[in-house]
Amino acid sequence: MRVYFDNAATTAMDERVIEAMIPYMREHYGNPSSVHSHGREVRTAIERSRKKVAELLNASPAEIFFTSGGTEADNTALICGIQTHGIQHAITTPMEHHAVLHTLEESAKKGMVKLSLVEVNNQGEINLDHLEDLLKSNPRSLVSVMHANNEIGNINDIHAIGTLAQEYDAFFHSDTVQTMGHYAHDLKTLPVDAIVAGGHKFHGPKGSGFLFVRKEKKITPFIYGGAQERNMRGGTENVIGIVGVAKALELAYEDMSSHRKHVETLKQRFIDQLNENIPGVAYNGLSADMDRSLYTVLNVSFPPSEENSGMLLFNLDLNGISASGGSACSSGATVGSHVLRALGAKAERDSVRFSFSRFNTTEEVDYTITKLKELYSVIA
Ligand SMILES: Cc1ncc(COP(=O)(O)O)c(C=O)c1O
Repeated sequence: MRVYFDNAATTAMDERVIEAMIPYMREHYGNPSSVHSHGREVRTAIERSRKKVAELLNASPAEIFFTSGGTEADNTALICGIQTHGIQHAITTPMEHHAVLHTLEESAKKGMVKLSLVEVNNQGEINLDHLEDLLKSNPRSLVSVMHANNEIGNINDIHAIGTLAQEYDAFFHSDTVQTMGHYAHDLKTLPVDAIVAGGHKFHGPKGSGFLFVRKEKKITPFIYGGAQERNMRGGTENVIGIVGVAKALELAYEDMSSHRKHVETLKQRFIDQLNENIPGVAYNGLSADMDRSLYTVLNVSFPPSEENSGMLLFNLDLNGISASGGSACSSGATVGSHVLRALGAKAERDSVRFSFSRFNTTEEVDYTITKLKELYSVIA
């Protein structure tokens, strides 16, 4: 049996998304900037996709910019947000994806901003009092806090954080890569200035995504060139990816609650069976808290074992199970996970992230538990 439990890294494409994309590879190949009919029909597809995304998120089409994915959208929001609005101080968390953390660290290194990190506790929870202190002494900052963490699944209260940011006149960006297509975002009520998406995290194509920037917080272009994307991103559009990401989001919204129910059942079954069968098992961050973590992510901390230490992912792979790892250690061959380090996770425990999608089954959960039981039988 082959099991794919690495859906936070990327997901399988939905067949209906592939079907929607094919005509833009075969028949509709015009350049959307061309004014003739071949170009116009493709331009129409892009604008229809933009309108669809905007409708689903309760935003205006003029606030949606298609990008090559989450990383580009994060870079654009942060770098151009800082430059356009003359921001001198940035606040983020040590738990952010490198698309945010490295971008802000680099901006600080270049002297564009001073960078402050908000304190988190050993569960990965953000200290909101500390955030407020930082905002108080640095009004008009840029605040970047992810909606949900890709490694441990913690969901942050971006409503509360956004409200706080507004109070101190900050530009609030939230990396929503892991929640887009899995949770509903209402941009009329959510107090964010910029959010992002990567299509491949919700059964769309890789290399697709978008950035939302609120009208009132307009930013200058990231990529200079032609007038594409309302002068914001020069370069002939990735039409196939744009059609794909919009279709994937549409499908995600259509069946969001039933997908969620299915995946939640899988996650709960996984937790119950681990608790029953692996003595000493624990969970990183809020991962096992069904209300405060992504229903798609479970980050398991396994007890130290001579047979599996540093080899667990490899042993799972030998059994056909694909998952992701991340240890707290920073020496040796692997760099280790900055997120687990920020939590103060113990280096001697193996951490594995299992991440689920609507294409997974209970049989896959049961098979994985059986294999884990075998791998840990020596200590059980
Ligand atoms: C939280 C988060 N932000 C950003 C990214 C980068 O997205 P992309 O792969 O679309 O560039 C990822 C992908 O792993 C992610 O999980």
